[in-house]
Amino acid sequence: EVKMMRYLRHMFIFTGVLFLMYFGLQPLDELFEKKSPRPSGYWFMPLVETSKCNVKGYRNIAHYRSTVENVFHLHCDRPQFLSPETRQGVNFLVPINISYDLECSFWILISDGQYKNRYLHKGSFQLKPNASEGIRIGKSLQIVRVLCKDKRNITQYHDVHYFLPTPEPLEEAEPKSSAQKLSVMVIGIDSTSQMSFLRNFRLLKLHLKRLPHTHLWGYTRIGVDRYDNIKAFLTGDEINKHDQQNSQFLWSLFEAAGYRTVYGEDSADSFLSRLDGQLMEFNLQPAIVEMDNHTRYSIDLNEKIHCTGGRKFSEVLHDFIYKMVSYLKDSPAFSFFWESTGVEEYLEYSQFLDVTYVKLFRQLKQHNILNNTLVLLMSAHGLRKDTYRMSYQGLQEESQPLLMAIYPEWLTTQYPQAIANLKENSKKLVTPFDLHATVQDVLHLEELENLQVLKRTVRLMDAETEKVLPQAISLFLPIPDTRTCKQAGIPSLFCLCYDLTELPTDDSLVVQCSRFLIQSINKILRPYPQCQQLQLYTVLVAQYIDFGGDSFVYELILRVKASPGDGVFESSVRLSNQTYLTSPINRVNRYIGKSHCVSDPYIKTLCHCD
Ligand SMILES: *[C@@H]1O[C@H](CO)[C@@H](O)[C@H](O)[C@H]1NC(C)=O
Ligand SMILES: *[C@@H]1O[C@H](CO)[C@@H](O)[C@H](O)[C@H]1NC(C)=O
Ligand SMILES: *[C@@H]1O[C@H](CO)[C@@H](O)[C@H](O)[C@H]1NC(C)=O
Ligand SMILES: *[C@@H]1O[C@H](CO)[C@@H](O)[C@H](O)[C@H]1NC(C)=O
Ligand SMILES: *[C@@H]1O[C@H](CO)[C@@H](O)[C@H](O)[C@H]1NC(C)=O
Ligand SMILES: *[C@@H]1O[C@H](CO)[C@@H](O)[C@H](O)[C@H]1NC(C)=O
Repeated sequence: EVKMMRYLRHMFIFTGVLFLMYFGLQPLDELFEKKSPRPSGYWFMPLVETSKCNVKGYRNIAHYRSTVENVFHLHCDRPQFLSPETRQGVNFLVPINISYDLECSFWILISDGQYKNRYLHKGSFQLKPNASEGIRIGKSLQIVRVLCKDKRNITQYHDVHYFLPTPEPLEEAEPKSSAQKLSVMVIGIDSTSQMSFLRNFRLLKLHLKRLPHTHLWGYTRIGVDRYDNIKAFLTGDEINKHDQQNSQFLWSLFEAAGYRTVYGEDSADSFLSRLDGQLMEFNLQPAIVEMDNHTRYSIDLNEKIHCTGGRKFSEVLHDFIYKMVSYLKDSPAFSFFWESTGVEEYLEYSQFLDVTYVKLFRQLKQHNILNNTLVLLMSAHGLRKDTYRMSYQGLQEESQPLLMAIYPEWLTTQYPQAIANLKENSKKLVTPFDLHATVQDVLHLEELENLQVLKRTVRLMDAETEKVLPQAISLFLPIPDTRTCKQAGIPSLFCLCYDLTELPTDDSLVVQCSRFLIQSINKILRPYPQCQQLQLYTVLVAQYIDFGGDSFVYELILRVKASPGDGVFESSVRLSNQTYLTSPINRVNRYIGKSHCVSDPYIKTLCHCD
């Protein structure tokens, strides 16, 4: 009988596991609760509070399927045999923990500005066990790739190093110009929403509380991906403007104003990789490209967390920031740093970064950089790659990227009205376009004097009365309480201000609009005959935007599945005299492996290759 019980118990466990596997593996979009998609009964946080818009964020995390892998336990598992060091202006590679003979080759490279690296010089050296003497490489800013093999001719170490000597001390104290300059530092943490910042960066949040700062809770994305949102911030251009030649990037504006310009990302698939030409004085990208091309290996199952030697790509970025500190403390600079390793891929990963960023802010404070810099701690959108976004809450958070401004105390006393306005805008609708205008104000601090701010405010109010409100408004001015998504340039799909009404997915109008959405994708794909034409497979969610009053405009927000390829897409369709899309098309589920036949990153999200 005991045997029987044991057998039954095993059976229960077995069916339980099967049950879990079955439901656990079912795509969440099919389980997506359609009756009450809004999370309820959870602790919430108001993000936007204006007369035209109220948006809340939910503290608790929506139910989601976490990754199979424990990403916290992943470490780069190859040795770090060399470390870069600059002594008295000379660059050395210093051996660490060598336990057997190594034959090493190295290449010193230069970038041609188009992200093709060339080698200037090749050399070699030997390492003996317990070697400690540094190998002299050269002088000034250098990028070096090193390859070491053991006696059996097996590669034991392959890595890229970035040398940045400490700057020469300024010849003589430069006469301080009467107008003080404020530096700008962008610290980007990819795929971090306002709410995931609150959940995962508990220490950093506490740490920043002690610094003068404003949290801009109503920051909203205006484009689908990182590129579109960062570009809008750095150029102020509309998304559809494809003509890059005439785009003025903030780096150029700041360079013209006598600032140093700095750029570092931890991914070769970076913002800059989609632009032509070199725009900045200090640029980590050629080193990252070299790593990506030669020394990269991945440690997670999705192959998205990259290492070189014994370091993650993100650690390379942080090393770069630390090295830049000595340049940033003495001269005005516009610097842009963006981290995406891991955070871009996994919802829980950013907990890992909490301490890292506390350390970074400590370092900035220690070197007095926070006393001359406006720091923008930000993201471009919420998580887009994990299954979390299949939940309604995940979908919302995708459009609510983090934005916090941290500034020196003296700004508050010198420009009280401008800073008061900034604080007042904490729960207004804010976009990357506004951020562009804000950063431009930094170049003309005199525009932030109380009298100027007052004049500009009057102009803004006049524009509002005449219904010609500009799309971009500096955050140092009071953003009108009545601002709508349309005025701010936020497409319907990313606008969280609307009252949405769920519609039955078999409604004939819904189906008609969904077909239109698929047709629009097919139209975009027409120049790419290698991509199959798509058909509507099913409508997953249909919501109706209530514009209120007696509006004659109807707009639907749709999430549909197409075949072949099972792509899940979202957009918004407007019906008036004609039917048209009012938002870019957003691919919701993964598309890896199905779109290898095209290279354009946006087309990749739509294309299902033949
Ligand atoms: C050198 O190796 C030892 C043992 O493998 C390790 O404990 C130590 O931390 C290493 N030192 C460095 C600087 O990596
Ligand atoms: C990557 O390496 C290959 C072979 O060494 C080279 O042909 C190619 O130009 C490199 N790509 C970049 C971006 O440096
Ligand atoms: C290297 O150093 C370790 C510890 O200091 C020592 O045990 C070992 O004998 C040394 N090896 C050589 C080849 O000197
Ligand atoms: C080591 O291997 C490389 C190719 O991996 C080869 O070109 C080279 O000749 C080998 N060297 C020796 C000494 O065997
Ligand atoms: C910060 O900057 C202000 C204005 O330049 C200066 O008066 C103040 O002494 C600085 N504070 C520190 C701690 O350096
Ligand atoms: C829509 O049609 C009405 C009358 O048919 C016309 O007055 C109006 O201008 C049209 N609107 C647009 C945006 O074409």
